[in-house]
Amino acid sequence: MKPQAVVFDLDGVITDTAHLHFQAWQRIAADIGVEIDEVFNDSLKGISRQESLRRILRHGGKAEAFGEQECEALAARKNALYVHSLRDLNVESILPGIRQLLCDLRAQQIGIGLASVSLNAPTILQALEIADFFDYCADAEQVARSKPDPAIFIAACRGLGVQPEACIGIEDAQAGIEAINACGMRSVGIGSSLTGAGLLLPTTEFLTWPCLSAFWQHDK
Ligand code: BG6
Ligand code: MG
Repeated sequence: MKPQAVVFDLDGVITDTAHLHFQAWQRIAADIGVEIDEVFNDSLKGISRQESLRRILRHGGKAEAFGEQECEALAARKNALYVHSLRDLNVESILPGIRQLLCDLRAQQIGIGLASVSLNAPTILQALEIADFFDYCADAEQVARSKPDPAIFIAACRGLGVQPEACIGIEDAQAGIEAINACGMRSVGIGSSLTGAGLLLPTTEFLTWPCLSAFWQHDK
């Protein structure tokens, strides 16, 4: 028995862009007198751009300080900083083990999907030169709700033509693990402080096809 598909989160699973998101938000936050640290940043993982800004403003006690247009401008500035920081991204930026796993999944004829709420996901996959591995990438623009809502994972499974129960989802964010579990997929977490993951691995180096295969068979 094999899973029919494996659906990946992007930031923090395929490549380490989480700290680039953090650096960009930290600069925007500092400009408006709000301080954020790495611990707070964990609560932004898997959260859309606009919702991240709302959380930062709330964190700094400035939830009501900016109008809609000002918020749009702040989010656009953050994105410009973030996109600029992506300029050095290349094949070397793929996290350890991921490329091999993609090759193995393809050899096993298991579907490969992407469930990222990042509007920059297509650009990043191109820069990493792995876009062709993906049978379906859920379109973040079509999904209104951030993780932990399962909408983006459901969209990925639908696009792949598989039932969530027949798939594995891989995430580095607590909100992502909750999204995977909420739609009946089997969850694999990358990191040390996640709760509720069906399988928790410290880093992507441990994320291999034999490991996923054993997890699937054990869990079924
Ligand atoms: C997620 C990240 O993958 O994408 C979040 O974990 C980020 O931190 C979100 O806010 C949206 O990304 P983008 O590239 O559309 O601003
Ligand atoms: Mg992530």
